[in-house]
Amino acid sequence: MPTLTMEQAQLEAVRRLAQRRLAARCAPDGSPLWHAHVRERLRTLHAAQVVFVESPVKRKVVRAGRRGGKTVGVADLGVKAFLAGRRVLYAVPTQDQIDRFWYEVKRALEPAIDQGILYKNETRHLIEVPRTETRIRAKTAFNADTLRGDYADLLLLDEYQLMNEDAWGVVGAPMLLDNNGDAVFVYTPPSFRSAGMSKAHDPRHAAKLYAQAAQDMSGRWQAWTFTSHGNPYLSTEALEDITSDMTSLAYQQEILAKDMDDIPGALWTQSLIDAHRWVGPLPEFVRVVVGIDPGHDAGIIVAGRTADGRALVLDDLSVSGDPDTWAAQGVAGYHKYYADALVPERNHGGEMVETTIRHVDAKVHVKTVWASHGKYARAEPVSVLYNKHKVYHVGIFGHLEGEMCGWVPNAGHPSPNRLDALVWALTELMLGTDASPPVIAPPTITTPSRWRR
Ligand SMILES: Nc1ncnc2c1ncn2[C@@H]1O[C@H](COP(=O)(O)OP(=O)(O)OP(=O)(O)O)[C@@H](O)[C@H]1O
Ligand SMILES: [Mg+2]
Repeated sequence: MPTLTMEQAQLEAVRRLAQRRLAARCAPDGSPLWHAHVRERLRTLHAAQVVFVESPVKRKVVRAGRRGGKTVGVADLGVKAFLAGRRVLYAVPTQDQIDRFWYEVKRALEPAIDQGILYKNETRHLIEVPRTETRIRAKTAFNADTLRGDYADLLLLDEYQLMNEDAWGVVGAPMLLDNNGDAVFVYTPPSFRSAGMSKAHDPRHAAKLYAQAAQDMSGRWQAWTFTSHGNPYLSTEALEDITSDMTSLAYQQEILAKDMDDIPGALWTQSLIDAHRWVGPLPEFVRVVVGIDPGHDAGIIVAGRTADGRALVLDDLSVSGDPDTWAAQGVAGYHKYYADALVPERNHGGEMVETTIRHVDAKVHVKTVWASHGKYARAEPVSVLYNKHKVYHVGIFGHLEGEMCGWVPNAGHPSPNRLDALVWALTELMLGTDASPPVIAPPTITTPSRWRR
């Protein structure tokens, strides 16, 4: 800190004193006058925001449509809690959402910041009442790790469907124990468009939390839902703009905020998959293959065929990155599960697909496949195998299952990569010309691994 001249030091002392006096000035009801100024600057909440902001429950789950006013709602809630002397932590996975929240909070608190009553740190997204525990902080967080090291008595988790559930279970909930703190979970049901961004283990975790909160009888949890149309501040043009390229399914999820379990027209339902979870020890396999849909977001699915003609889905090793990344991941899966073939689609890479794999490991058996029929024609016979109780999942593969239950043939959805990889693996094992056991059976897989639950 630079040394101050006597005159500067005196000026600084006078400034501090003036700030303290300002901060101490009270309204007739006894609350600090700057609180009243902040309250005046808060937005007028719309009806659906009012109900969840004003509710006194300790655990709130809000499911709402895109642009419905979720972030403005939680910003209002955060500022009010801050005025009540609480320590508020807001977390959201994406930078643009942080900006939205931060803008709202600053907008309300600006006069008090300008007057020096509050301290603001722009890089840390932090505003605090100096010399107190009262503060409001915004962080980008996809998972538990980025939330560690902070504590709060009000935790606001925005875009919760994209976060890893550990953010709450491992760090959030313990953080609130000390002061019996409160938590608010805000989300929009994930559609095909947003699924790729998610760091969730189970893409349905927010929906499950909502369902629990809605059924809670203890008075501790409460759930609310509203559509994008519930926001009267959203212009028709703005709504049209965000919905213009949406399929009707995405519209139901992202605008009408519907958590869809069974999606009309999808080839699988969650209950069909849930009814085909493998329980008990693993059987012997006569074949194991790794299906690959190459690309930046590559689908990589491992499945095995049993001697009695059933298929077990063993792992989802899907990965994002350059060609070497998916090739290395596929080859690693091949060795880990003693597979007898890698089955990559070569429509988009031609010869390069096999060359890329050979570059990683020259000795693996590669059987490239060519998608000559449409996606529906390839996937439909595989879904029939599930209906005939021929395919089981060893563990829960949330993202894969989300694609299976979310993909509606011919509805204009982007290519579901994990589903494609699954279709290649199961077609090879169950429907291909080589579906019968090879002459030399690969060793039995008995090693338990992380996908076993
Ligand atoms: N109470 C309010 N008063 C004035 N404008 C509001 C209010 N609530 C929301 N808005 C406006 O509506 C738009 C959407 O609000 P907000 O960003 O909070 O929605 P969201 O549900 O978080 O959206 P997204 O799904 O994009 O995260 C913004 O332009 C915001 O300024
Ligand atoms: Mg938002």
